[in-house]
Amino acid sequence: MTARSSRSRGVRGSQVPNDPTPASAAWNALVREIEGCTKCPLHRTRTHTVVYRGSFAPRLVFVGEAPGAAEDRTGVPFVGRSGRRLDAAIERLGLAATEVGVLNLLKCRPPDNRFDRSAARTCRPYLDRQLALLRPRLLVTLGGNPLRAIDPGAPPILRAAGALRVGCDPPVFPLLHPAATLRSRAWNERWERDLGRLAEGLRHGLA
Ligand code: URA
Repeated sequence: MTARSSRSRGVRGSQVPNDPTPASAAWNALVREIEGCTKCPLHRTRTHTVVYRGSFAPRLVFVGEAPGAAEDRTGVPFVGRSGRRLDAAIERLGLAATEVGVLNLLKCRPPDNRFDRSAARTCRPYLDRQLALLRPRLLVTLGGNPLRAIDPGAPPILRAAGALRVGCDPPVFPLLHPAATLRSRAWNERWERDLGRLAEGLRHGLA
């Protein structure tokens, strides 16, 4: 069984269980490396690193910004209010848990949830290594920071959201951050519109 054929719902760290292939060994080594990471100051204030939840053969991977308080406490990405919003969206898209993965640009919670660009640069190679092992067909970025990190040429998030960006490999479909949609009715409407576009794309073989 390869890491791509092994499917598992994420638990803390999301290691591939009992799977001795090179890909899964590389994933498990990466998880251990992230768990022990002290490359930026965020390690001093974290409770847990937050690595991944979802399938090890995902059609698409959602890329968030950084863990919040609930994620820091549990070690699992998107388990708080934003996570519930994201899970509702995944259901609306008609995607099974076995088809998606969820992770963040930053693996440690920034104090006061203030996004830390310098930490994001330091953390970036972990994201690249995760994606190289997961090999999704599509990335769905959540909010402006992950979009900028993955596709520096993208316009600001309010212009980019809801339209596929094909200059990247894999292609990127930007969405607003789910937390933003909880704060504003207009952004919630935009979220719904963009999800509709993504659903339409998926129906036509986008990923
Ligand atoms: N917001 C994020 O960007 N990521 C999480 O894991 C939780 C909230």
